[in-house]
Amino acid sequence: MAQDWTPDSWRGLPILQVPEYGDNAKVEAVETELRRQPPLVFAGEARRLKQQLANVADGKAFLLQGGDCAESFAEFSANNIRDTFRVILQMAVVLTFGAACPVVKVGRMAGQFAKPRSEPVEVQDGVELPSYRGDIVNGIEFETDQREPNPERMLRAYHQAASTLNLLRAFAQGGFADLQKVHQWNLDFVADSPEGERYEALAERIGETLDFMEACGLTGDAVAQLRETEFYTSHEGLLLRYEEALTRQDSLTGGWYDCSAHLVWIGDRTRQPDGAHVEFFRGIENPVGIKCGPTLETDDLMKLIEVLNPENEPGRITLISRMGHENVEKYLPALIRAVQREGFSVVWSSDPMHGNTIKASSGYKTRPFDRILSEVRRVFDVHNAEGSYAGGIHVEMTGQDVTECLGGAQAIDDDGLSQRYHTHCDPRLNAMQALELAFLIAEALKEQRAGQRQKVAAAAS
Ligand code: PEP
Ligand code: CO
Repeated sequence: MAQDWTPDSWRGLPILQVPEYGDNAKVEAVETELRRQPPLVFAGEARRLKQQLANVADGKAFLLQGGDCAESFAEFSANNIRDTFRVILQMAVVLTFGAACPVVKVGRMAGQFAKPRSEPVEVQDGVELPSYRGDIVNGIEFETDQREPNPERMLRAYHQAASTLNLLRAFAQGGFADLQKVHQWNLDFVADSPEGERYEALAERIGETLDFMEACGLTGDAVAQLRETEFYTSHEGLLLRYEEALTRQDSLTGGWYDCSAHLVWIGDRTRQPDGAHVEFFRGIENPVGIKCGPTLETDDLMKLIEVLNPENEPGRITLISRMGHENVEKYLPALIRAVQREGFSVVWSSDPMHGNTIKASSGYKTRPFDRILSEVRRVFDVHNAEGSYAGGIHVEMTGQDVTECLGGAQAIDDDGLSQRYHTHCDPRLNAMQALELAFLIAEALKEQRAGQRQKVAAAAS
């Protein structure tokens, strides 16, 4: 267990990106209330995810992590959760079947509420208000009372996360994820697109495979993996008061787990080695992610890994690179080499979203889909050249037919952005774009795995 650590040992250390609550008594009352709430996930589940991520680190599986940039109270509905879940299932099937590789599925869901911001304040028509920091902190409307951080929102976020997780567990285990239903996951508005048709062709082949397996006596009744799936949750562990209140000691092992999600990650803006966030993350035993942007110094990354994973436990650390498509070759190789030199076991995942955000001439914050694809391709190329394993993808996506990222099969242009731009924070891939990306990754992954098999065979002969 981490030395000199307690769930609140982060308090008093330098901290960035958290709100100042005006009323201390109120925030403390909320924290007390949160501490009394049941955990959202169990330590055993987080341990199981860690084992699966250890397989990813070892090149034997692939991590698919996706969901909203920011969940919101307004967009909370069973249909939204179902549709995001089913696009993740579709992506997973494309990867599993296309690259013959097990896929570890993790949603940015059931807790992805708190947002770091580039500016602490926002100015509109000469009026200055605190920036929106996610529904768990304040309201998105540009009004004084909405922008005031309100601790009660933590309770609402907790309850929404609990309902979301309840539904996700039902979808994952209650029949919706049965592979026999692979055709039904295709969303209506996607079905007629090139990606939808490509998916349908793949579903057809899976259907035939299942028929064959059934004829051999392997059915969903006999094999749970065909009938249900494992699905994990994750979010940025930003609002430490909330994370601390949901951190519990496991009765089985005595270890501390942040029971707000299976995996939590440290954002690119809060990864200071001596800061409060790293201190908090050091003591929890969940698998943790670290966002790695262009400003991350190699030495700092080495320090972070040493502090967060002193035993070099496989599956504990997922490094999520988010360099921007033109920066991949410039920054990623040095980080990979340093990790290799130190012998650290990590999962390398790619977030092709956060380094590719631009402002469209229409004023919308957007991401060109071709840059997203380009970052993924370049990440695979760099890992192949360095002899490391590109083991995961981290995307902001939704099952809704939104128009937030430019391009893709629908060729969304500047004017098109305004049609269905619904995000509460960053622009997300819509279902079609998410599928297109999955097909591209499946190809790259297949090549990467074939290359590795060749290397192993050559070494053995
Ligand atoms: C995010 O994942 O929504 C995010 C803010 O990312 P980053 O910390 O990489 O900027
Ligand atoms: Co984001």
